Amino acid sequence: MITVNVEHAADFHGWRAQARELLNAGIDPSHVLWQVSGIDSDLFADRNELTALSTEESPPCDPTIRSTHTVPRSFLELAELVVCHSDASRFGLLYRALWRMTNGDADLLQRATDDDVYTLTGFAKAVSRDRHKMTAFVRFRRTPGCHHEHYAAWFEPSHHILRLTSEFFCKRFSNMDWSIYTPEGSAHWNQAELVFGPCGTRHDIPQGEAMEQLWCTYFANIFNPARLRLDAMRAEMPVKYWKNLPEAPIIARLTREAGSRTSQMVAATPGAESKYTQSALYRAEVPLQKLDSLAQLRESARHCDLCPHACKATQTVFGHGPETARVMIIGEQPGDIEDLRGMPFVGPSGKLLRSILTQLSVDQSKVYFTNAVKHFKYTPRGKRRLHQRPSAGDIDRCRSWLTDEISLIKPALIIALGSTAARSLLGRTVKLTEQRGILQRFGDSAQVMLTHHPARILRASNQLDRSRLSDQLADDLGTALSHAGLLRQDLSIDS
Ligand code: URA
Repeated sequence: MITVNVEHAADFHGWRAQARELLNAGIDPSHVLWQVSGIDSDLFADRNELTALSTEESPPCDPTIRSTHTVPRSFLELAELVVCHSDASRFGLLYRALWRMTNGDADLLQRATDDDVYTLTGFAKAVSRDRHKMTAFVRFRRTPGCHHEHYAAWFEPSHHILRLTSEFFCKRFSNMDWSIYTPEGSAHWNQAELVFGPCGTRHDIPQGEAMEQLWCTYFANIFNPARLRLDAMRAEMPVKYWKNLPEAPIIARLTREAGSRTSQMVAATPGAESKYTQSALYRAEVPLQKLDSLAQLRESARHCDLCPHACKATQTVFGHGPETARVMIIGEQPGDIEDLRGMPFVGPSGKLLRSILTQLSVDQSKVYFTNAVKHFKYTPRGKRRLHQRPSAGDIDRCRSWLTDEISLIKPALIIALGSTAARSLLGRTVKLTEQRGILQRFGDSAQVMLTHHPARILRASNQLDRSRLSDQLADDLGTALSHAGLLRQDLSIDS
């Protein structure tokens, strides 16, 4: 029997190198004992080669064995997950499967009912689940007293997933210095390099702070009582993670209040007078802990990175205008110029919109301009950044900001430009061709008008279409503003 050491509990590369040499030496899996050298002491030691194997008796070698072996990529992908499993037999099991595949059973992985394949697949699934939980439940807290901005988190995985999953956090929080501590090791990122170190304890992590208050507020806002399914929630968010989640203390309260909040939502569903208000049920999802000023909301949106475009955009482009505005105009998302200047509607579409509003004598300083999506989504093309339409997921992720803007400003008239704004406002996809230009009630006291986005006019392929669309947009805006009594002198923030 020979003993083979890998350097750490999830040492895929070590296992792979050792397994390759064992195979080349023709060593049967039943003669190999796999062992983890130690977590940290050996972390930077030279990689063990076969020469480092402790040989208790001569291994039986097969001299005819091929010196190079190929296995499907899917096996290596499986192995990379399996080595992270906490079961002590994982390295041996993997080597046995490898041995079988390279000794006449190349299709082994296709036979899901084979005992080894079944166990390995189960291990890989468990590791994937654990990784998913880690990406969902790690909560960073600002490290106090640190001379620079640094964040730390504590997490207790079920398997050895720290190293593999840290790559996710490097990408997600690339602009932040952070450390993640677990009971068996830690990972540290300084915006350039990822290093691994010794374990910590939960008490090393700072407790409670302002960011958490913000997170709890956000969590309360997106918590939909009508969708509450306790069993599913417990399965997705096992209680073992709760002690490290800042939102855990409010989950019990939100759950308790779910019944009455759902009834409020149903009661708030209006009658047949408006199809918009019927679908706009989310208006009843009143935030439990509201950020109580627009300035606070803007500040918290500045740090939002819920969508994958946040890190590519220059900044969050939040809404602009007075908190007392009676008219809110919602666009799609900031464009190239808006992204650079941090203001909505200052690029070509904005200029067109503003010129129409000027023709209608609208005092724009009393209008609140905002977008459904607050970050510029684009594809780089040389030096240019080409606008990309936000997906339904992008819109829905960003939607709580708009909901909060509406609840704080309480506009009398909301104008949604284009289908992205309409989806964000109403919470569902809308056919603009059917719904454009109709003034509808929205909630208890507001009215809503869906109309063209000015970019549609700019993109029109001929002059005829351009003037038709432009006339329609001007008509829709004029109708909405005058019906709501908000044209010219009516558009007063004090009235
Ligand atoms: N288009 C939008 O929808 N919003 C802006 O802010 C600019 C262009």
